[in-house]
Amino acid sequence: MKNYVEMAMDFDSMSEKMPTNDNVDLIIKKIHTISNYYIGHKERIFSDIVKILNDNNVVSNTVLDLFSGSGAVSYGFKLLNKTVISNDLLKFCHINSFVFLDKNRTELTDSDKDFLFDPSLDTNIRGIVSQFYSDKFTRNECVFLDNYFSRAMSFQDEYKRYYSIFSILQYLIRKCFVGGRLYKKQIIARMEHRIDHAMNCGHELQFHKYINWTKFSCDSNVNDISYNYDVFSCLDKLKNIDIDLCYIDPPYGGMQSDYALMYEFCEDYVRNCRTRNDMDFIKKSNMFIGNNIDVYRRNFCDMVDRMSFIPTLLFSYNSSSWAKIDDIIECIKVFRSDVKVKEITYSYGHRKSNSNKNIEYLILAR
Ligand SMILES: C[S@@+](CC[C@H](N)C(=O)[O-])C[C@H]1O[C@@H](n2cnc3c(N)ncnc32)[C@H](O)[C@@H]1O
Repeated sequence: MKNYVEMAMDFDSMSEKMPTNDNVDLIIKKIHTISNYYIGHKERIFSDIVKILNDNNVVSNTVLDLFSGSGAVSYGFKLLNKTVISNDLLKFCHINSFVFLDKNRTELTDSDKDFLFDPSLDTNIRGIVSQFYSDKFTRNECVFLDNYFSRAMSFQDEYKRYYSIFSILQYLIRKCFVGGRLYKKQIIARMEHRIDHAMNCGHELQFHKYINWTKFSCDSNVNDISYNYDVFSCLDKLKNIDIDLCYIDPPYGGMQSDYALMYEFCEDYVRNCRTRNDMDFIKKSNMFIGNNIDVYRRNFCDMVDRMSFIPTLLFSYNSSSWAKIDDIIECIKVFRSDVKVKEITYSYGHRKSNSNKNIEYLILAR
């Protein structure tokens, strides 16, 4: 049985048509199973993405999701039966997309899950969590998380390793990113604040009970792939590949753009090292954080220039990005002759006043 939503075929042009609204609703429901807490994720505008492509008859058999983050958009395109190439600088984001796209999904068995949680196997290893995160996790939590990591890494199968890490991080982000506010510019809250929060009612994390072992079904093919490069290395690697469409959702250069810092715990955990000491990684993660607009603009123009081998580009930006939308469009027009913009207005659920209405833009460039 096929696990993706059927496309309609236009027999005159022999090209596929974009799916109907009903199909997109079904896809949105499937994407929703990710329970996405990633800052700046685009699950909520996925139907707008499909609509703008549909309205403009964009061919999109192979899609590159260049800044994939949570992987929600990659997963959505996969459910539309596209060939999907996903990329993000953060390794934990690469793992998200890997879990959605890998064609050899070897699910964890019950005994694999028992193995991951077996306290009799715990050792006194002082891993990354015990060494550097005792302000964010209790002693028990540190011991558990370090042991879980080492056991997850002991699986021979790559999908099992990544799926174990993906599942624990989903749980941690859900439980420890409380109240929408960042702690020291990071998403994992201070330990006491998190434990006292209504979401946790004074309890430590209860890993064994509450991890969601969600299954992500879609029919992947050999060309679906998740990369873990900076944007320039990724484009360089792909320049001889036929790609129809690139979706570009970089950090917007506003307040919450430093993803390496916001998600430092997740990245340290999956890399099993202190990423702040990796100067090459930090340099790459600073390309689009917006503290220096000239640097952002230069990197942005350089990136668009390097995408000349891709016929259609679709950008996401909003009204509090590194530059005004007209300015961003002018930058794109240097490289593309046909540029269209669609405005999407919505309110942030967790904010109260109307003044927090944000305008999200989709910019289609050919
Ligand atoms: C707005 S988020 C993308 C959200 C994603 N579209 C989603 O739906 O979840 C921007 C992403 O860009 C990534 N990023 C930042 N700098 C990068 C770089 N130099 N190269 C590649 N990815 C980068 C961040 O790690 C972050 O995940």
